[in-house]
Amino acid sequence: MENRAPVRLGILISGRGSNLQSIIDAIERRELSAEIKIVISNRPGAAGLARAEAKGIPVRTIDHRRYQSREDFDRALIQALRAHEVELVACAGFMRILSPLMIEAFPNRIMNIHPSLLPAFPGLNAQQSALDHGARFAGCSVFFVTAGTDDGPIIAQAVVPVMPGDDEASLSERILDQEHRIYPYAISLFQQGRLVVEGRRVIILDAPRLKDLNAMLNPPLRS
Ligand code: GAR
Repeated sequence: MENRAPVRLGILISGRGSNLQSIIDAIERRELSAEIKIVISNRPGAAGLARAEAKGIPVRTIDHRRYQSREDFDRALIQALRAHEVELVACAGFMRILSPLMIEAFPNRIMNIHPSLLPAFPGLNAQQSALDHGARFAGCSVFFVTAGTDDGPIIAQAVVPVMPGDDEASLSERILDQEHRIYPYAISLFQQGRLVVEGRRVIILDAPRLKDLNAMLNPPLRS
């Protein structure tokens, strides 16, 4: 693949910011060629803001409660992202639904991460829903944001087993470890120009072949 310029990122958060941290770390390890131009939180005092500030990354709080409508809030987002010449928007624990205004401003240029194997369990409390359904596997998905909730073309997924005795906290932690791997990876695929959206699918150019990954069973078969 030809060498491309670092992708100019805008990262949207609402809270803890551990996925933001994983992106910062991947850039520092040179696994991801990106520059974080701005981190925006819709919640004042979100812990993730301090993670960005500690690295000298520009931060902004755009408090959604100060806007009359979803569209007005999105207009403020778009203005801030454009002012920082953002190419790709990465939602990282950003708990607001975006209006068509925002999606049209960045077509196939907004990613999100969700703690389930989409299309299972969109929306809130995905990890608890997996437990409630007795799912044997859970996981996380990175996808391009479209108008539907957690409904866009899937870029990358990671699967984790649900263990006997898991509760929401233990399952969430196992999933979160994988979120921190696949989000920087999905962004690097974008940076390398390897993601092509065709309808509701993403084609990955030059995708590594799945050599040993065949099938997983949970519970495992007894031999
Ligand atoms: C993550 O588990 C992320 O997948 C989830 O919120 C958490 C944010 O953690 N996002 C959603 O549920 C979006 N529908 P973080 O602030 O530590 O990155």
